Amino acid sequence: MRIDIISVLPELIRSPFEASILKRAQQKGIVEVHLHNLKDFGMGKHRQVDDYSFGGNAGMVLRPEPLFACIESLQAERTYDAIIYTTPDGRRFDQKSANSLSLLENILIICGHYKGIDQRVRDHFVTHEISIGDYVLSGGELAAAVISDAIIRLIPGVLNDETSALTDSFQDNLLAPPVYTRPAEFRGLEVPEVLTSGHFQKIEDWNHAQALQRTKERRPDLLED
Ligand code: ADE
Repeated sequence: MRIDIISVLPELIRSPFEASILKRAQQKGIVEVHLHNLKDFGMGKHRQVDDYSFGGNAGMVLRPEPLFACIESLQAERTYDAIIYTTPDGRRFDQKSANSLSLLENILIICGHYKGIDQRVRDHFVTHEISIGDYVLSGGELAAAVISDAIIRLIPGVLNDETSALTDSFQDNLLAPPVYTRPAEFRGLEVPEVLTSGHFQKIEDWNHAQALQRTKERRPDLLED
């Protein structure tokens, strides 16, 4: 998979891709992430990328010319299976969206900034408008990092334990059950006995019952559909 990210502040998202699982996925050659500074396509001596919005609303909007130029230069090299725009007015991101995006080959992510991007860019290029939750970030960069992380870890070969993505919260519409590690007793606090019983079926049943109880308490909405 290849992910291209367009941003006015690429330095804001460099570090998540330079550590841990995302770094290893790139080293293994499973994924390539390329950051593009929109200012390289800015206009005039000052590399201007934004301007006041028509209609008088406060706040700056990213102009269409630099975005068209940047996107078209990338499209000249390859066809994108998805062109994502990160925005609080998008569709809310979830595990299901992560699963389907993880199957794609080429993804382009445009990070919103200020009051957003000119609507003509959205109309012309964008295939997925995604929000990562009902709150407003100061830019789309952190959202792009969140979306990329959720997608990349699902690609086969990225996680060492191939089964571990399958037992994540949400993968079966249930939150994950509690987990314990050694020691079996710590300061008088004991691990539930069933987990040290070695009885596979009983452990499975216990995990499922715990997951169901947590979901009922914390996220009953997940059980509705
Ligand atoms: N940009 C600002 N807030 C955002 C959000 N919640 N999701 C995606 N992009 C954003």
